[in-house]
Amino acid sequence: MLDFLHTKVANNSVDLAVIDPPYNMKKADWDTFASQDAFLNFTFSWIEALLPKLKQNSSVYIFNTAFNCAYILQFLVEKGLDFKNWIVWNKQDGISAPKNKFVTGSETILFFTKGKPVFNFDAVREAYKSTDRIKYATKKGIIKNGKRWFPNPNGRLCSEVWDFSSERHKNKVNGKVQKMQHLTPKPKDMIARIIKASSNEGDLVLDCFMGSGTTAIVSQKLGRHFIGTESNKIYYKICIEQLDKINR
Ligand SMILES: C[S@@+](CC[C@H](N)C(=O)[O-])C[C@H]1O[C@@H](n2cnc3c(N)ncnc32)[C@H](O)[C@@H]1O
Repeated sequence: MLDFLHTKVANNSVDLAVIDPPYNMKKADWDTFASQDAFLNFTFSWIEALLPKLKQNSSVYIFNTAFNCAYILQFLVEKGLDFKNWIVWNKQDGISAPKNKFVTGSETILFFTKGKPVFNFDAVREAYKSTDRIKYATKKGIIKNGKRWFPNPNGRLCSEVWDFSSERHKNKVNGKVQKMQHLTPKPKDMIARIIKASSNEGDLVLDCFMGSGTTAIVSQKLGRHFIGTESNKIYYKICIEQLDKINR
């Protein structure tokens, strides 16, 4: 992946990086590191290689555990990127069952920017929660700061807490987890939210840990260009097969 970033991706070429890297949760060989230090060294090395590839006005989203994101956030701030959001992905699927702390049911997505990139807030509105109040306001409006406010018909501005069922959860049969082609595919609707918000058609999206290719596939469907790499040949093949299906 370092070699890919150094040799295949031009400097100042990427509008949006959507990076879903290893988490060091030891769920697979590719997710197992000798120590936390080894994991962080690996993480910081790909971030260093990624930074020159970003355009002057660009966005970066990085997935990880909340614990690891605390280190990644500090590193990105030191590198001069602008912090935008600590997005909490509520997976609606407990990923551990501890008896000495609260259940971890979320992952973190760090959103950073460089310069002044696009942010298409209207493209990612979400449903209002308080339906009764909204029904009332739609008819008569609500007085806010001395002005009559009417709800936006496309929903409210998107918050930084995201409810998307994990693919693992969606694919359960009678409550049982099924074997999937990839261990940790991200939900396509969640990746679509990121791509719609932080890029326009024709922009270049990068993902240097493609897995089964969720970001590549969604980018293609939304008319964005894509560049990426994946070290596992089986995952890579799954990704290429799916991309071929879209192009047929
Ligand atoms: C969290 S998964 C990505 C899942 C992907 N977002 C999806 O929706 O399918 C991380 C991926 O990084 C790949 N990977 C790990 N180390 C890598 C490296 N050095 N270079 C390229 N890919 C790597 C793994 O094989 C794994 O598929």
